[in-house]
Amino acid sequence: MRRLTLRQFRIFEAVARHLSFTRAAEELHLSQPAVSMQVRGIEKILGLPLTEQLGKKVFLTEAGREVLYASRSITARLDDLQANLAQLRGMDSGLLDIAVTTTVSAVATNILASFRGKHPKVSIHLDVSNRESVLGQLAGNHIDLAIMGQVPEGLDLEATRFMDNPLVVIAPPDHALARKKKVAIIHLASEPFLVREAGSGTRGAMERFFADKGLELRTSMEMSSNEAIKQAVQARLGLGILSLQTLEQELALKRLAVLKVEGFPIMRHWYIVHRTDKRLSPLAQAFKEFVLGQAQPATWSPTY
Ligand code: PGA
Repeated sequence: MRRLTLRQFRIFEAVARHLSFTRAAEELHLSQPAVSMQVRGIEKILGLPLTEQLGKKVFLTEAGREVLYASRSITARLDDLQANLAQLRGMDSGLLDIAVTTTVSAVATNILASFRGKHPKVSIHLDVSNRESVLGQLAGNHIDLAIMGQVPEGLDLEATRFMDNPLVVIAPPDHALARKKKVAIIHLASEPFLVREAGSGTRGAMERFFADKGLELRTSMEMSSNEAIKQAVQARLGLGILSLQTLEQELALKRLAVLKVEGFPIMRHWYIVHRTDKRLSPLAQAFKEFVLGQAQPATWSPTY
């Protein structure tokens, strides 16, 4: 069976709208016989007349009305498709799917806010979870881009470093070690620590640091948020090791103190990451470049 073509639908839609072969031909820049031929072609395929001529007037038959209805929904779908694809190509609308690790979320939110200032129509999905979960989302190809700490080797990920992330030891301001100008690492071995949950990059870095120095890490409690750790340190449940970028307020209000421990800060870095095989949309590419444009060599000062 021969199939109707999109061209035939478009031509018939014009004839039915104008109820005139001549005006449809004018609109489509075709000759009138060419338009009639196309309509006869449809009638031949369907085996039913679509129009009838009474005097000089053209009327649609019942089959003609059915074909008109189908033509309109097909052309509307195609127009939608074209508009959606234009949005995908363009950068001023469309969707950006991003995942960031808990610790970088404050930095990432600021970057997103200034990006959105430049592209106000863009929709953004932001997932905030720990390192292991963000790696899972990259592996499952659920997101365009991630912002996180260093990625493990051997995964097909492209990671570009753009900012420092210093980890420091925190204590209540009246802790005995807070008064010392220099704290020897060995003191850490006798202090209980509050640690993030397994899967957190901060926790991984902390454990590596203790292992490298041959020190035992005494954990008093495990918590799944930086905020909870800060509160627990203030409540004297132990010391903590967190990114300096999460401590701005507590340090300014002197609710927490950074200990001047030798070997600190543990200098980690933030990366913008995507799958190597990912074809970034122009929007995702623009966001990546924007993030890299925010590159700051050091976001901490040693004067805490
Ligand atoms: P997290 O972040 O401790 O919140 O998982 C750090 C990282 O990305 O490595």
